[in-house]
Amino acid sequence: MKLLILNGPNLNLLGKREPTIYGNTSFEEYFEQLQAALPEAEMEYRQSNHEGTLVDIIHEVGFSYDGIVLNAGAYTHTSVAIADAIAGVETPVIEVHISNVHAREAFRHKSFMAKNCVGTIAGLGLKGYELAARYFIEK
Ligand code: DQA
Repeated sequence: MKLLILNGPNLNLLGKREPTIYGNTSFEEYFEQLQAALPEAEMEYRQSNHEGTLVDIIHEVGFSYDGIVLNAGAYTHTSVAIADAIAGVETPVIEVHISNVHAREAFRHKSFMAKNCVGTIAGLGLKGYELAARYFIEK
């Protein structure tokens, strides 16, 4: 069971970035906890601030991995290219947001990713990544 956890723009700043919204934990710290919680999965973590790089990564793993847990950050609300990449690969994708995007600004309510994903988790903090990974493991 091979899973990719893929974060988009500004998520490299987790722990420092707007902590009242996104918390005080860096993703590197959280990823260690995640691996310890789910030893049955081989998990890889990657992050990019660049739209095309996120597309390249989805292509790279999208015909061999068992699942992608994707937080595309702000590209969620703008990127046809990432949405098309999800549609174009075989690996299923779950969309995750740390914050409840539906309780925030109107521009965060629209996701270009959602219709090409198995499902979406939003507003459960970092726990959302674990729940998404667990879905792939238990499926
Ligand atoms: C986010 C929500 C997005 O609207 C925002 O642009 C992010 C993070 C979240 O995890 O809550 O960068 O995807």
